[in-house]
Amino acid sequence: MPVISTTTQYERLNATNWGHWRSQLLRLETQTYEPSRQDTPETLEKIICHKKGVSLAAINGEQLAGFCLGAPLEAFSHVRGPAEDSLRGSATVLYAADTLVHDEYRGQGIGRELKAHQIDAARSEGFEQVSGRNRAGLANAMWRLNSSLGARAVHIIEKDYQDGIEPDLCIYYRIVLSAS
Ligand SMILES: CC(C)(COP(=O)(O)OP(=O)(O)OC[C@H]1O[C@@H](n2cnc3c(N)ncnc32)[C@H](O)[C@@H]1OP(=O)(O)O)[C@@H](O)C(=O)NCCC(=O)NCCS
Repeated sequence: MPVISTTTQYERLNATNWGHWRSQLLRLETQTYEPSRQDTPETLEKIICHKKGVSLAAINGEQLAGFCLGAPLEAFSHVRGPAEDSLRGSATVLYAADTLVHDEYRGQGIGRELKAHQIDAARSEGFEQVSGRNRAGLANAMWRLNSSLGARAVHIIEKDYQDGIEPDLCIYYRIVLSAS
């Protein structure tokens, strides 16, 4: 049953509070993403604890309602999309890794708030662009949300997930951050 939340708060995720949210965050990651889109606990920790990262939690009391994670593009050279991105090395792009909202909290604007806060923080912390990947089909809601925030497709990556779920296509996008 959906939880109607009027009291969601947004806070930065970082090395200071990673330990506090770790178990809920890992549970949500495995509940929400199919295995080929899940990040390992080690990868999630690296992103959240990155000194120049921009990661946020949506919190309702003591419950983690959602999160969005990001760190400089340079930290993702092993990922298709960032791997081919000519801006990698310029230290100007925040790579938005995971975004999810607990299914009981969806459809209330929490995903939009998380992304809007991440974009504002990225801009004020000196990034010029945000990039990311959205799986066609399974992440259509996210692609629609990102598009409404200015995301434009840079290229389509084929057959990267290789998990037998069709379509096996992913959009690599950018959001150019205008000066506020
Ligand atoms: C994508 C996701 C984060 C959206 O979170 P949310 O809190 O439900 O989103 P919001 O209520 O803020 O809705 C924002 C926008 O998302 C889009 N959206 C949300 N749910 C949608 C749905 N079921 N179908 C289509 N679009 C949808 C709409 O464009 C909506 O726009 P609006 O604000 O004009 O209504 C959530 O659906 C989710 O966790 N999905 C699974 C994880 C995932 O695939 N993440 C993306 C890959 S990283």
